[in-house]
Amino acid sequence: MSDKPQEINLSVNGTAIIAKPGMTVFQAAQTAGIFIPHYCYHPDLSIAGVCRMCMCEIEKNPRLQISCNTMATEGMVVRTDTDKVKDIVQSVLELHLINHPLDCPICDKAGECKLQDYYQEYGLYKSRIEYETKNHKPKAVDIGTIILDDERCILCTRCVRFTAEVTKTHELGIFNRGDRSILRTYDEKPLRNDYTGNLADICPVGALTAKEFRFKQRVWFLERNDSVCTQCARGCNVTVSVNPDTTKLYRVEPRRNPDVNQSWMCDTGRWNTHYVSDANRLTSPQKQVEGKIIEETWETFFKVMASNIQSAPKKVLVGLSTYLTTEEMADCLEGFSGLGVTHFTWIVDERTVEDRKAYDGILKHHDQTPNAAGFLQLMETTKTSWLKHEEVIKKLQAKEFDHFLLLGLEGVTMPGAAELLIKTPKETSITIHATTRVALFEKATWLIPNASSFEKSGTMVNALGLMQKLVASMPWQFTSRDSHAVVFGIKEGNDRAVSPTGRFQTVFKRLSDEAIFPGARMDWKKMPASGVNIGVVGRAEGIKYAKG
Ligand code: SF4
Ligand code: SF4
Ligand code: FES
Repeated sequence: MSDKPQEINLSVNGTAIIAKPGMTVFQAAQTAGIFIPHYCYHPDLSIAGVCRMCMCEIEKNPRLQISCNTMATEGMVVRTDTDKVKDIVQSVLELHLINHPLDCPICDKAGECKLQDYYQEYGLYKSRIEYETKNHKPKAVDIGTIILDDERCILCTRCVRFTAEVTKTHELGIFNRGDRSILRTYDEKPLRNDYTGNLADICPVGALTAKEFRFKQRVWFLERNDSVCTQCARGCNVTVSVNPDTTKLYRVEPRRNPDVNQSWMCDTGRWNTHYVSDANRLTSPQKQVEGKIIEETWETFFKVMASNIQSAPKKVLVGLSTYLTTEEMADCLEGFSGLGVTHFTWIVDERTVEDRKAYDGILKHHDQTPNAAGFLQLMETTKTSWLKHEEVIKKLQAKEFDHFLLLGLEGVTMPGAAELLIKTPKETSITIHATTRVALFEKATWLIPNASSFEKSGTMVNALGLMQKLVASMPWQFTSRDSHAVVFGIKEGNDRAVSPTGRFQTVFKRLSDEAIFPGARMDWKKMPASGVNIGVVGRAEGIKYAKG
């Protein structure tokens, strides 16, 4: 038997804590909810111990220590609330702020800046420095997707460690010494990795700000919702920020989930969101007749489609995009099957779906849709027969279908849709439910506007087999409808049956009651924000990249 201790007993500020071996004092305190101020510590980066904000007093140790790099040991008695600690934290903060430009009114970090927060909490000293005597450094240095302000930088090295340990691209370094130190890319060239937005997140001050967000919106006007990214099968956990007055989407940031994305997300998932409100967004149902676009109402569309399906349901093919939530897919299967439809397929690039690991060794998956695993599991447990693309294409080319409905397309790439559309013969009328108009859609008879994944709630199953919550951050834009509403409208043949936004919860409950996803038998409200393992697809290994 190992003689290593299984647990370590220590006390912090009089609270008894049982820590795991290998934990630092900082981490042990965190487990007990004791907050210690810090700049350089980050849970997903190596420890640098350079900011000196996390000071603590340890019994029998004459000098104050940094808690982020001091291992917790048996019987340790730690205090972070003594006058001695408070004095030193205030002095360290004063040092960090000595040359700070104090441009909070024009800084995008204002409202979520750790210099502001800590000054209020641990500073409140009277400045001993005249503004004119401050050491000024370069401002607004363009390093690619990010703007660097050296005057605001407190040299915590989080950004340097991120490019060394996570992306391993090593673009950033700190040059010079003392108050001449500046952050730069080594070759003075722009950052060149696909994860640059994370630098703006982890910079605890306003030294690194994202061009995409700079000067767009004050953070205190934003409302935040926890959701997931839908731009690949990883399903990175995110926080979506929208201004509730304008319902405009301003920011998507990673939310920490050690099993999925640690604290990171890629730049595509973060910034490839312009389709939500750009000029190509479909705003109303449209009929295309000989190259002319005729605006129509949902009522007309529902009536026409209901009658098309009723007259020959077996000659209808329904394609479910793997951008759809699990609940939308289930509702569509039930609704269209009830109308007599027997042919279903999925819309995804099939070559990418089996690949359950990130192709770049960090997060990104070749499957650029969020819910192929949900589709597969749903089809398997409901024993629904469906066609893979090879069979669908054969049937399309044999002119077996009068109508082809493609439901739930999102964004501009729509993986898998192009091949199906190209192979659809002119005898088959096409209906496309999509967020965005693209050139490929010229062949369609009907275009109907889809609600984006920022406008609907439900669940997605990622490539690791985790079912996660997608949460609406804004209302359906323009006259968009999600697929719950589309299948309801077609079933009823009118526009009065459009489902309320709570429809997904009813379907989620049914899926839970019927154990369609065995690991996700629970109340929607009780489903953790970090997701649940559905217990079928099988969970691949979490992120594994060496630190340091
Ligand atoms: S730019 Fe930000 S993250 Fe990088 S060293 Fe300076 S303060 Fe730290
Ligand atoms: S890796 Fe995939 S899920 Fe994660 S942010 Fe990028 S596109 Fe989104
Ligand atoms: S957080 Fe401990 S030294 Fe920076």
